[in-house]
Amino acid sequence: MTKQELLNQIQQVKQETDTVILAHTYQPPEIVDAADITGDSFKLAAAVAKLPNRRVILCGVDFMAETVKILSPDKQVILASPNATCPMATQIDPSRVRAFKQQNPHTAVCCYINTTAALKAECDICVTSSSAVKIVNAMEQTDILFIPDQNLGRFVAQSCPHKNVTVWDGYCPVHNKVTPQQIAAIKAEYPNTPVAVHPECKPEVVALCDMAGSTADIINFAKAQAGDVIIATERGVAEYLNLHETTNKRYIQACGDTLICPDMKMTTLTDLLAALKGEGGKEMTVDPTVRAGAKAAIDKMLAYGG
Ligand code: 13P
Ligand code: SF4
Repeated sequence: MTKQELLNQIQQVKQETDTVILAHTYQPPEIVDAADITGDSFKLAAAVAKLPNRRVILCGVDFMAETVKILSPDKQVILASPNATCPMATQIDPSRVRAFKQQNPHTAVCCYINTTAALKAECDICVTSSSAVKIVNAMEQTDILFIPDQNLGRFVAQSCPHKNVTVWDGYCPVHNKVTPQQIAAIKAEYPNTPVAVHPECKPEVVALCDMAGSTADIINFAKAQAGDVIIATERGVAEYLNLHETTNKRYIQACGDTLICPDMKMTTLTDLLAALKGEGGKEMTVDPTVRAGAKAAIDKMLAYGG
């Protein structure tokens, strides 16, 4: 089937089955274009509650589809690419959090949305990279354990100096690879060009950049600049900007092909069509007790308004 035939069939089956397609910005460009809603983890999570459709296809990784199912248990939720996972989501075992809470009853446990439902269920509140600083700042507790991403946790700690933030040892294998030398090299190649970075990168990398924020924050920053911008996050963001922003500005990818999340790139139009037809994808299920705990943590995040 040609690309156009696939896109036509996707539109047709989507309407026949009352399905909405969500895609993270890191997805391949043809998937972003086929989606009804595109954005960062917070936008996708917040959008779910308002969706009238009875079916949702998520183009992204498993924790994102699981989050949709937690928030919309009565909808059929399908992950388009059945094996797409986020390695960071499983880096902390829930039993470790339970043991920590017993020993530190006054510390609030804050988890990044890139976690399993079972881990979210052990935590007081969930955050995304868009909302982490704002929420930790507003929390009543002073002592916070931030899991699993040590880099985002350190960024939050720096941005909330009146809080006592403990981090553990998780990380995103894609963003954690970026080195200060790579940032220095691209800055030397494009002098006076601002650099936007994701706070999943190491603090010594973030320190060399002009702004740090979520996918949505980076896109907004890049659009607001008068000239070129260097983008130090997963390649999908620069690709998205270069395809959708019709200006003469260049969105320059830092670290080239090394900043690609293989799991985020797994989804194909063929996968999407198969998932829509009920012939592929992975239907999400969440144990009701786990769901209740995880939903409480996500609802608290949504109550802070992101
Ligand atoms: P955001 O898109 O929410 O900034 O998160 C980045 C990421 O790595 C998603 O897996
Ligand atoms: Fe996980 Fe990193 Fe890939 Fe995002 S970019 S899905 S945090 S591995």
